[in-house]
Amino acid sequence: MTNEFRLMPPVASDFAARVDVFYWFMVLMSVFWVVAIGAVVAYFAIRYRRRYRTQRPDEIHGSNRLEAAWTVVPFVLAMMMFFWAAHLFFDYAQAPADAMEILVTGKQWMWRLQHPDGTREINTLHIPVGQPVKLTMTSEDVIHSFYIPAFRVKADVLPGRYTRTWFTPTKTGSFHLFCAEYCGTEHSRMGGFVHVLTPREYDEWLQTASTAGGGAAVARLSPADAGERLFTRLGCVTCHGGAAGALGPSLVGLFGRERELADGTMILADEDYIRQSILYPQRHIAKGYQPVMPSFEGQVNETQLMQLVAYIKSIGSQKIGMD
Ligand code: CUA
Repeated sequence: MTNEFRLMPPVASDFAARVDVFYWFMVLMSVFWVVAIGAVVAYFAIRYRRRYRTQRPDEIHGSNRLEAAWTVVPFVLAMMMFFWAAHLFFDYAQAPADAMEILVTGKQWMWRLQHPDGTREINTLHIPVGQPVKLTMTSEDVIHSFYIPAFRVKADVLPGRYTRTWFTPTKTGSFHLFCAEYCGTEHSRMGGFVHVLTPREYDEWLQTASTAGGGAAVARLSPADAGERLFTRLGCVTCHGGAAGALGPSLVGLFGRERELADGTMILADEDYIRQSILYPQRHIAKGYQPVMPSFEGQVNETQLMQLVAYIKSIGSQKIGMD
């Protein structure tokens, strides 16, 4: 919330400190070599300058030791940075199983966020400190990018697919939230604040958020419950209700598993698979079923798609394997 000048954003997540150490390592490494090489160039220029008009330098015939040194040393340093960064990246890419899932939809020019209990926010996000938070994100229109500098977290938000990121806030306070991908006229205004609260404050906030404003009852429907209603309203339940001889496969226990398709290939039933199956049902036909499902493209918006996915996830019983 402050406008004071700072060299670095606040350190407010578990990633932040680790990213900073790596960042400063790379900066110092670069500075070291710039200064070291610059100094040697300057020294040689003076030490070996031509002192009189007819002076000719001795010929140089190379040095294998020197060449090996300037090959091996940068190689080792570059590999060190590579593995260090890769290690950070893998941690960054895999959210822990107990993470709280927040659904994020980007839209010109605002962020819509939804909590697990259904509470919604626009351009603000309230989260409890110390709790791993996973964001599942998509866009209603163009590419946006969700960026919280204090957490050192930034991920593109794309139309037509889900992207994910996660973090554990380690400090209470309010931190900037930005859109980091130019997305049109009001791109620079597409942002707000992340408010990190103590767990108790967060519970209190959830209570007041549910009672503030009209239509609280609807707003508080969890994404999975809202998805279940949609599932019935859109008629999905007619074919996917699990009845014997139904036109479509039952979706119970589907999420997180490999599913066999009509052409014999296997596909992992993750969020993107479910989303695609709703919008473009002809793309992946489950083995043993006819391609008769109509597309729901244009009938459900991204928020509703996320709700349907949340519902199907909720009846997916035990998750197997990844994410
Ligand atoms: Cu959204 Cu820039």
